[in-house]
Amino acid sequence: MKFIKVENYNKLSRQAANIISAQIIMKPNSVLGLATGSSPIGTYKQLIKWYNKGDVDFSEVTSVNLDEYVGLDGNNNQSYRYFMDTYFFNHINIKKENTYVPNGKSEDLAKEGEEYDARLKSFGGIDLQLLGIGLDGHIGFNEPDKCFEKSTHIVNLHSSTIEANSRFFDSIEDVPKQAITMGMVSIMQAKKILLIANGKAKEEILKKAFSGPITPEIPASILQLHPDVTVIYSEE
Ligand code: GLP
Repeated sequence: MKFIKVENYNKLSRQAANIISAQIIMKPNSVLGLATGSSPIGTYKQLIKWYNKGDVDFSEVTSVNLDEYVGLDGNNNQSYRYFMDTYFFNHINIKKENTYVPNGKSEDLAKEGEEYDARLKSFGGIDLQLLGIGLDGHIGFNEPDKCFEKSTHIVNLHSSTIEANSRFFDSIEDVPKQAITMGMVSIMQAKKILLIANGKAKEEILKKAFSGPITPEIPASILQLHPDVTVIYSEE
């Protein structure tokens, strides 16, 4: 496991974007596992800049996102599909048909999860998985629990997550109570993992996740078992 401490969010974003573009340069048809939340926005902005300069080409890239809110379709501006289009996909040359976000509006969410995993398997898994970390240690939307969930599944969001994510909504009542998220198998089978965490507020959970016991009570702690994890964090 490699820890990179940087001074501020700007440097964090550049470092993360560097690792992602190196991945694409080395393997143009990479499968990228992508994340939402405030942490990766700067990384996506930096990648867009380098794309515009001609330094990175996404034409052969496939992307699979970690999660989506249940009940929101891609046109809803709070959905993670909308987030990805707005902050990233609309500004680069990735083929939209090669970008995957779980469908939170599916009538059969269990089937949606199975199909999501099967599709990922057919791609040969993820080459590089980008992750943020929730204040309770969640990755994707794998919330603290009694066991690690393996496959893409439906999750009831914890009240602390609903509260943390309410900053993006008009009111806390508008935050969906459930999400569909990739499980630990897809995440742990990624060849490389890049986790980014910004700000003092994340310090405590990073310590617990990476220096404490491996426990489903702190979902990110499972990453201690992965052979190739890079954590970039800024205390700003
Ligand atoms: C959401 C996402 C996670 C993300 C987390 C942290 O809950 N499902 O993938 O890591 O938010 O968000 P932020 O980066 O805004 O702290």
